[in-house]
Amino acid sequence: MSLRSSYTLIAPFYDWLIGPALGRVRARSLARLPRAGNAHILLNGIGTGLDLPLLPATHRYTALDLTRAMLDRALPRGDRLDLHWTQGDSQQLPFRSGTFDHVLLHLILAIVPDTCAALREAARVVKVGGRLFVLDKFLRQGESAWLRRMINPLTRRIATRTNVVFEDALAGISGLRLIDDQPALAGGWFRMITLEKTADQDLPDSSVSSSSRRGQVSQTMPPSNATATEASIRYHINPVIAPAL
Ligand SMILES: C[S@@+](CC[C@H](N)C(=O)[O-])C[C@H]1O[C@@H](n2cnc3c(N)ncnc32)[C@H](O)[C@@H]1O
Repeated sequence: MSLRSSYTLIAPFYDWLIGPALGRVRARSLARLPRAGNAHILLNGIGTGLDLPLLPATHRYTALDLTRAMLDRALPRGDRLDLHWTQGDSQQLPFRSGTFDHVLLHLILAIVPDTCAALREAARVVKVGGRLFVLDKFLRQGESAWLRRMINPLTRRIATRTNVVFEDALAGISGLRLIDDQPALAGGWFRMITLEKTADQDLPDSSVSSSSRRGQVSQTMPPSNATATEASIRYHINPVIAPAL
């Protein structure tokens, strides 16, 4: 089963399963965002939009997720925000390099099959000086965590990987500086990590790659404060969704 299929099935239960358990941690994590100014922030892997009611309305946002059923649930939660919607893949973002002031990565880096690719892409699309705000579950280098490693072959297919070592992913990426790393939940399995982009990477811009054009459909939804509805979704060919998911 692909992650897109499993999250389509999970979507109706997601808020009930995850909402209460992560409520306080989510609020703590979002308190890292600037409270003033007019930044453009990517909400990477927005899911059902549990973050949306907690976001400062002063900024502009772009919300991305792979799964239409999750985006459909997020849509009504964005009403008070300047928010643009995109269906796409975090491992191959459909945005030009340096598009965003900051990127929020709540429960996405340990979900995707290739954490390093998703982190590299987040670093690519943020401006130099911009921050990546990560909240996710990671193992420490050398941590045995035998149960989490053992269940990973099953869980990675249906919801999340449980064996991701953040430092291993970060080691493959240049131009990122660690600002902060705090335990958030479950004895430090969940961590709040803040990174800053210090330099541009010498990487191809996947948003303009035509060789990866697969003809898959994505949706770009207009700002929800302009009364976004199902009917107002504009369809276009997405050149970047990876086929392997
Ligand atoms: C655990 S949920 C997290 C949702 C939300 N960020 C939150 O904090 O509640 C993971 C989300 O990642 C999405 N997802 C899975 N693979 C993805 C990919 N390759 N690119 C973008 N989103 C993906 C799923 O559809 C799901 O909405």
